[in-house]
Amino acid sequence: MLPYPDETKVADVLSRLSRLPPLVTSWEVERLKSELAEAQRGERFLLQGGDCAERFDECNSDLIAKKLKILMQMSLVLLYGLKKPLVRVGRIAGQYAKPRSTDTETRDGLSLPTFRGDLINKDGFTTEDRTPDPELMLEGYVKASLSLNFIRALLDSGFADLHHPEYWDLDFASHSPLEDEYRRIVSSISDSMDFFESISGRSIHQTTRVAMFTSHEGLHLPYEQAQTRYIPRWERWYNLATHFPWIGMRTGDLDGAHVEYFRGISNPLGIKVGPGMTGESLQKLLEVLNPLNEPGRITLIHRFGVSQVKKRLPSLIRAVQATGSPVLWCCDPMHGNTEVTADGVKTRRFDNILDELEMSFDIHDHSDSHLGGVHFEMTGEDVTECTGGARGLTDADLARAYKSQVDPRLNYEQALELAMRITGKNFRSTASQDS
Ligand code: PEP
Ligand code: CO
Repeated sequence: MLPYPDETKVADVLSRLSRLPPLVTSWEVERLKSELAEAQRGERFLLQGGDCAERFDECNSDLIAKKLKILMQMSLVLLYGLKKPLVRVGRIAGQYAKPRSTDTETRDGLSLPTFRGDLINKDGFTTEDRTPDPELMLEGYVKASLSLNFIRALLDSGFADLHHPEYWDLDFASHSPLEDEYRRIVSSISDSMDFFESISGRSIHQTTRVAMFTSHEGLHLPYEQAQTRYIPRWERWYNLATHFPWIGMRTGDLDGAHVEYFRGISNPLGIKVGPGMTGESLQKLLEVLNPLNEPGRITLIHRFGVSQVKKRLPSLIRAVQATGSPVLWCCDPMHGNTEVTADGVKTRRFDNILDELEMSFDIHDHSDSHLGGVHFEMTGEDVTECTGGARGLTDADLARAYKSQVDPRLNYEQALELAMRITGKNFRSTASQDS
């Protein structure tokens, strides 16, 4: 754990946190688990997306609505193209702690602890800012609950009616050779929904309640533990700070504290799977984290990068198949494709993201497996953090609206375009030839 200077204060905060009401219910968590079990059987598709790190000062109506809008529109595009219901999961309402590759940051000869996310310390460059402050966990709980409250209200009041063409920002399409296809997808979605509404005589949101779940990396164990409750109804423990916590690349150590914590909760779990993981270590993780082979319990989120995925993924798929344990495979095409520009700016290229996705779908198909979900870092705003996409953003454009403190996100247009590419007719035409 991070060295908080005052242990008494930590204990006080955790005790207060553990008495506050949970953010989600065990019923919702179980519902998500059963939807993920359906995705494992190929009956649903998982869309998981949101910021790399949420910021406390971005907990406002406009930004939350924009995040929800892009997630909903992508899910409509995927539903339309894949002909399967979606499981919608935001990296939202709790994605406040970040793993960092170094413990300290040095500027002009001064070294201070790194910024580890709003849940832990502040990003200003003073000793005071960078000293871990337990009160931030309470603020994180409050910001998460405010976000979730607003999301629930938006969904309940018809925000899910976003299929009407006037809500789609399609200006980018005119910059793409696939413009006609993009416009056709949106008008087909809109027509289908109109048709549904006319025959049912009701608007979509009155007919089906759109479910959306929350997720975050279960990194900062004191926060997670304080929101972990025993539910007599199920006779099991649940993390009720989120529906779907995941274990990050840096905390998947079999003997580590994180795996020990995750072993004891009943939520569905994501496990990030990257180049460092062997078939054997993955098998052991499955044994420890899902000893009873419960359906829906495990989602493996692979993030190899376009240059590694063909080499690494097939043997891991075989290793998992050998266990007979059910998993949902999901591709995170972001974290293996991070690069740094000549100016030292972290970015990701749209084409690499798309290529890793294409290859992943194909590798699963050729391995008697299936890719049942995608995981993106994205935002509903017009940021310039990733390059490429229909507008052809270049390294030089990054300076215009680069806001992320950590990893670069797809902007609204890039995220929407990606969903359209996945469902479009040209997807998987190139990667399939040589995988
Ligand atoms: C993340 O999802 O933001 C992250 C840090 O990913 P990973 O653990 O896969 O590197
Ligand atoms: Co990230």
